[in-house]
Amino acid sequence: MNVLDIKNLKVIFRTEEGFVRAVEGVDLHIGEGERVAIVGESGCGKSVTSLACMNLLTTPPAYVTADSFVFTDHDGHKHNILEKTENEMLALRAEEMAMIFQDPSTFLNPVMTIGEQLDEVFIYHMNMKPKDARECSLAMMRKVGIPDPEMRASQYPHELSGGLKQRILIAMATSLSPRLLIADEPTTALDVTIQAQILRLISERCAKEKMSLLMITHDLGVVREMADRVYVMYCGKIVEEGSIEEILKRPQHPYTKALIDTVPGMDEEVDRFVQIPHNVPHPMHKPQGCYFSNRCAYCTDLCRTKQPPLFDRGDGRKIRCYYTPEELWLKSY
Ligand SMILES: Nc1ncnc2c1ncn2[C@@H]1O[C@H](COP(=O)(O)OP(=O)(O)OP(=O)(O)O)[C@@H](O)[C@H]1O
Ligand SMILES: [Mg+2]
Repeated sequence: MNVLDIKNLKVIFRTEEGFVRAVEGVDLHIGEGERVAIVGESGCGKSVTSLACMNLLTTPPAYVTADSFVFTDHDGHKHNILEKTENEMLALRAEEMAMIFQDPSTFLNPVMTIGEQLDEVFIYHMNMKPKDARECSLAMMRKVGIPDPEMRASQYPHELSGGLKQRILIAMATSLSPRLLIADEPTTALDVTIQAQILRLISERCAKEKMSLLMITHDLGVVREMADRVYVMYCGKIVEEGSIEEILKRPQHPYTKALIDTVPGMDEEVDRFVQIPHNVPHPMHKPQGCYFSNRCAYCTDLCRTKQPPLFDRGDGRKIRCYYTPEELWLKSY
């Protein structure tokens, strides 16, 4: 059973310069307990997709449409996310679907203590009395590995390191065991040494609470550690989809291959840092045909003129490219 099932998601922003098509017809599903990642370079539409999942985009400037957008809760009830009112979403968020952001500081209230902010989750969502809520908050802080929780509970966000703040956010997001946890670049603002600890904590929490995970990242190293299945996103479209083993071992789309080559040690044949030529196109000036055509070493006239569909191989792999890897290999000679 799928926790989230989205068909043909489109997000358009109305700006002074014109319309920005940030997400262009994305199909996405996440199974029960499944760990799914969306990977791609900056500006590809990863965050906009994750915000749409939580119904956090405001209209205007964002216009969100989908053929279907179904979230199935703990009790098996199906919710059409796009038809929910803000009050209905408030109940769903935290209890059923929660999100961790890149920068924990923007999420925490600077004038409330850490304890007060955690207590609120239990008071608001579980109707607990303040004293009982504090007991739960302290227990939660222990679960996410915060030493001396009593002392930390009385502190304000600015008194905590980035890693500790992210642990607090993970505690808040997972305290009610939501069905789905969405993590948008949760470690990019942190020290490299702390990153692995935080990723491990997210993994542990998901396994323990049987939560599904949607991991948003530009880092295939993170995907390898954190996901069973991956969507590769480029310029608002999914260009490749498959299990993480298959994608890393046998990437089919030139963009996926290029992304793998940017991570040293990911591909045994490439031991140096390789950059993908040129930049992601401006969202209002995407190429006419395949969006990757201006950066692709194998681009043909067909690629330049006509957008390739997402070919479904029928084995869980989908690829938005006219050519097979064998054909691309031959073309390079
Ligand atoms: N409020 C907005 N108004 C106009 N355009 C927007 C808005 N929010 C996002 N966009 C555009 O939508 C596109 C996708 O943005 P998004 O934030 O999803 O990228 P991303 O893949 O998360 O990138 P990053 O890795 O940098 O976080 C970008 O071109 C961005 O400029
Ligand atoms: Mg983002």
